[in-house]
Amino acid sequence: MGQFLDMERLGEERTWRHLVQQLGANDQCREVLVASNGEHPERKWRNLGESSKAVFWTPLIEVDGRRLYSAHNENCEALRPQSVFECMVMDHVHIHQIAEEMNQSVEAEEWGDLSPTVSFFHAMLKRHIEFEEEILLPLLAQRYASPRGPAYVLGSEHRWILTSAAELEELVRQQGRPEIIRSRTRALTTYLVAHAAREEDLLYALVDAQLTSDERKSLVTFFDDMVSNR
Ligand SMILES: [Fe+2]
Ligand SMILES: [Fe+2]
Repeated sequence: MGQFLDMERLGEERTWRHLVQQLGANDQCREVLVASNGEHPERKWRNLGESSKAVFWTPLIEVDGRRLYSAHNENCEALRPQSVFECMVMDHVHIHQIAEEMNQSVEAEEWGDLSPTVSFFHAMLKRHIEFEEEILLPLLAQRYASPRGPAYVLGSEHRWILTSAAELEELVRQQGRPEIIRSRTRALTTYLVAHAAREEDLLYALVDAQLTSDERKSLVTFFDDMVSNR
């Protein structure tokens, strides 16, 4: 059963106290809706030192500058992903959310907020891509043995993404020129959306099809546990 929390109505502190209680230490299925007119709730959640609790944020609708988010407790067994496709798409959504937060700071020229967000974005990208490079792409390469096949293409894209993210992080750290930061951020996030779509169309379903149900289950559990500890 979900609960709706409105920061404007309840006051920020009270809202967050409720949220921590609702998504607290139990493994029951929990969904809480949060309306916010300020910063992304995930950042607030991390600032509260709640990083060990696996909360998955989904932006729903925006009305008059206020946005409604759904917060799920990922520790709930019923919400665990069942396939490589599901768990990787969930991680894409998470990375796109951080990218959106990063884009919003850049567009609003809120440079003070940008550096920790870019560093977090880079760290989440590295973790995601490392898993794809070490486990998923070798499985794809087994199936398509061509030296210029899909594993080669996705691997090249990973190198471009990681290099661009590292350069952007450095540029922001050194307080580079706003127009360069803006164009690099846009280029990286646009590229990332196209890359993720290619993986969702091809890579994950092929990997799922190649695994036995036990192999799939242990791979999904491994990745899900890893991202739950973010
Ligand atoms: Fe990838
Ligand atoms: Fe991916």
